Amino acid sequence: MATFDWDASMRVGVCAIDEQHAHMTNLINKLYYSFMDGTDKAILAETIDELDVYAKNHFLTEEKYMNQFRDQYPEYGSHIALHRDFFSKVTDFLFKFSDGEGDITPEMLDYLTEWWFNHIGGIDKRFGMFLADKGIA
Ligand code: FEO
Repeated sequence: MATFDWDASMRVGVCAIDEQHAHMTNLINKLYYSFMDGTDKAILAETIDELDVYAKNHFLTEEKYMNQFRDQYPEYGSHIALHRDFFSKVTDFLFKFSDGEGDITPEMLDYLTEWWFNHIGGIDKRFGMFLADKGIA
């Protein structure tokens, strides 16, 4: 999976989350296409920083919703753990690249894309259904 385009089929049903998912998907695709085009490392590092900041804000948005229903949301702990995984496993290699330790490979970017695709299509979608039951859209 090199890239995927966010579309309506990936909506979780909460406007703020859907807008952020679309933007985050665009950032991941931008990184992929920039890398494949041979874009300068300094420019790639800017996109990586942008992705990192955006992902943190996005996860905070979801976790604010989770905290409203902490005692009722059955995947509270596992969902937050997956968000932490994103930084410890998925973006770690990107920061090593930014710091000059190693290279990005297409396989790494595939992994990043797949992680993101599976996350929003899996646990985030289930979270959206949970929030819909609580009247949040
Ligand atoms: Fe949209 Fe759970 O990240």
